Amino acid sequence: MKFDVKNIREDFPILKKQINGKQLIYFDNAATSQTPTCVINSISDYYNNYNSNIHRGVHSLSEEATEAYEKAREKIQIHFNAKHKEEIIFTSGTTHSINIVSNGFLDLIVEDDEIIVSGLEHHSNIVPWQMMCKKTNSKLKVIPLDKNGELDLKEFKNLVSKKTKLVFLNHVSNALGIINPIEEIIQISHSYNALVLIDGAQSAAHFKIDLQKLNVDFLQHQPINYVDLLELVSCMAKKNYLKKLSLLWVVVK
Ligand SMILES: Cc1ncc(COP(=O)(O)O)c(C=O)c1O
Repeated sequence: MKFDVKNIREDFPILKKQINGKQLIYFDNAATSQTPTCVINSISDYYNNYNSNIHRGVHSLSEEATEAYEKAREKIQIHFNAKHKEEIIFTSGTTHSINIVSNGFLDLIVEDDEIIVSGLEHHSNIVPWQMMCKKTNSKLKVIPLDKNGELDLKEFKNLVSKKTKLVFLNHVSNALGIINPIEEIIQISHSYNALVLIDGAQSAAHFKIDLQKLNVDFLQHQPINYVDLLELVSCMAKKNYLKKLSLLWVVVK
């Protein structure tokens, strides 16, 4: 498929701007991407026409807002092929999503349990787990990188064991752009009954992610990296964990 830059640029009104007499070209998408007209229009339509509480009011605006909110959830479910609509949870960002999941695990992780993180993580996928390990006296193990800066799978196979309760890593590294072999890591982790959380902040924009095929337990992603939809970040959690992780359940509702 041809990558039609000219056509794609048309979707982003900000790119019509000139800076220092030159047409704006913007590359900092990994930090914050620009917003296409359809998104700007949808947000503006919401504020102009049906700004109100979702799931709580019984008046028409609230019903309209609730319907639009749930339709968005369905679209995301279809996009990621999640098994159930409820598995899609709206949060304020990847960091928020990871914190909700890690807080949910506070009651389920006990002393001597082990948690594995990759050595390639964004700060927001390290600190919550360090804090959790401190609180629960569980152990945090780190998958080292090999000489090419890639995750050392051989070492991962040595680290994972029946004591491993959780494995978390990003799909694509924000620092190096490395694509991690998440399918293999999920498979190996599941063979030890360990759950896997994938930080998809840098990958969801570039790959078609099929949650059922991937069989991942938690996936976090942030549209800010591809359509800058600040208020529509989502976290996916398999349905059977929703009630177990109390905070997740509160957010879902
Ligand atoms: C891989 C990765 N994880 C987590 C985050 C944090 O995302 P957020 O700002 O949505 O909390 C980022 C931010 O760009 C990221 O690149």
